Amino acid sequence: MIEVTNLSKSFGTKKVLDGISMTVRDGEIFGLLGPSGAGKTTLIRVLTGQLKFESGEASVMGADVRKLSGEDKKQFGIMMDDLGLYERLTAYQNLKVFTDIYGVSVDAIGKVLAEVKLDQDAKKEVSKFSKGMKERLRLARALVTHPKVLFLDEPTSGLDPQTAKEIHEIIRNRKEAGCIIFLTTHNMTEAEKLCDHLVLLNEGKIVESGSPRELCLRYDHQKRIEITTTDGEKEQLPFAGGAVERIEQVLKEGRLLTIHSQEPNLETVFMELTGRKLEA
Ligand SMILES: Nc1ncnc2c1ncn2[C@@H]1O[C@H](COP(=O)(O)OP(=O)(O)OP(=O)(O)O)[C@@H](O)[C@H]1O
Ligand SMILES: [Mg+2]
Repeated sequence: MIEVTNLSKSFGTKKVLDGISMTVRDGEIFGLLGPSGAGKTTLIRVLTGQLKFESGEASVMGADVRKLSGEDKKQFGIMMDDLGLYERLTAYQNLKVFTDIYGVSVDAIGKVLAEVKLDQDAKKEVSKFSKGMKERLRLARALVTHPKVLFLDEPTSGLDPQTAKEIHEIIRNRKEAGCIIFLTTHNMTEAEKLCDHLVLLNEGKIVESGSPRELCLRYDHQKRIEITTTDGEKEQLPFAGGAVERIEQVLKEGRLLTIHSQEPNLETVFMELTGRKLEA
């Protein structure tokens, strides 16, 4: 379990995390969804003991993140941009560095390479890897020690849909195996598909939280009906009020081409709460 209470963090005079409170339960995929600069990476750094903070409390599996021991950190798997790979080493050698440090059996390397579908590329130098292969290897590095908590900072950012899907599958499997997953994303589709619980973060503050479905239902008043007429015009009609009359009118005129209902999604929810888009 991860528990955060009223946590604040500043860089100089700029407050980057502002009174954050959240609980991540065992066995869930927890997503931190927010636009660039919201404070997502900063929160991962704080929770993994890489950054100090001024006020509030944070613990991961009962351990205060201000006082994490080596043993505590062994339970973490971390995937973030600035944890790079050794380009001149092979995939196998990259993982061997980690298993040596963490005292994990080398048998784990073959298994994790198969898990991320890089077993055929074990002996290849990383400099010859594609972007998607590198991302999978970075994920493998986070997984190879069999962590109890996985921190994934935008694990599929900039990847093609197929690789993203494979990574989602690996994450789900680890959840099934009992791992707590804490991930960040600014991709609402990813958040919707993957996460059991979401926190929407904007300018260092939590603006909403709940399951993706709960969040969308809470903002149900944004439901719209979109009609297209035979002369190519699109109209957005609010679900409640006026839609029926307008549709009837267009129908009678014989001009109705298509009709769709538009459910609120995380993007429209975020927009309503902050006036900002998730992705620039
Ligand atoms: N080491 C640092 N020194 C000063 N300011 C920083 C530092 N790291 C982050 N910041 C600032 O803190 C804010 C939050 O940054 P953070 O990297 O946590 O955002 P993010 O939500 O991860 O964004 P992105 O989606 O672009 O990765 C930004 O305004 C950033 O400029
Ligand atoms: Mg970031």
